[in-house]
Amino acid sequence: MAETNRPLKLAALADLHVEETSVEPYRRLFAEISQKADVLALCGDLTNLGKPAEAEILAEELRSCTIPMVGILGNHDYESGQVAEVERILRDAGLHLLENHIHEEKGVAFVGVKGFAGGFGSRMLTAFGEEIVKRFVAETVAEATRLENGLRVARSGADRRFASLRANHRHHCRRAS
Ligand SMILES: [Fe+2]
Repeated sequence: MAETNRPLKLAALADLHVEETSVEPYRRLFAEISQKADVLALCGDLTNLGKPAEAEILAEELRSCTIPMVGILGNHDYESGQVAEVERILRDAGLHLLENHIHEEKGVAFVGVKGFAGGFGSRMLTAFGEEIVKRFVAETVAEATRLENGLRVARSGADRRFASLRANHRHHCRRAS
């Protein structure tokens, strides 16, 4: 059977929220997933506060995963303002980050974006009034457009299948005072 016609087993996880104090939080799970799935997708909030030390712990866990890994970051991964370093650590561990990239595995094109707040349908925030609201909505639209463009490119492949990942759940947490 051609590679592109075979069903692809995709394992998907989100909200790993790995912390500096986490001890081997996902090692066994990633090893088990490697025996049962073809690709692992990590769909945002991979770290709890976006600290490089948290990413290093996750990177160690990812080394127990022996299947291809794709992923996107979530809003928590931006919290400490060190996203470039977090991305570098995770890429070095073999994770294919999809922000601004399309990654193809086993005949399936993966596209994904972090997403942004703004609501849906009749509850959607509109670009009206204050400048800061307009900038907020512009970021929401830009994220959605990036995903649409990625899907358009993925569909343009003659015999490609595709999957989209989004992490726009906006996980919020309450800070201790
Ligand atoms: Fe989350």
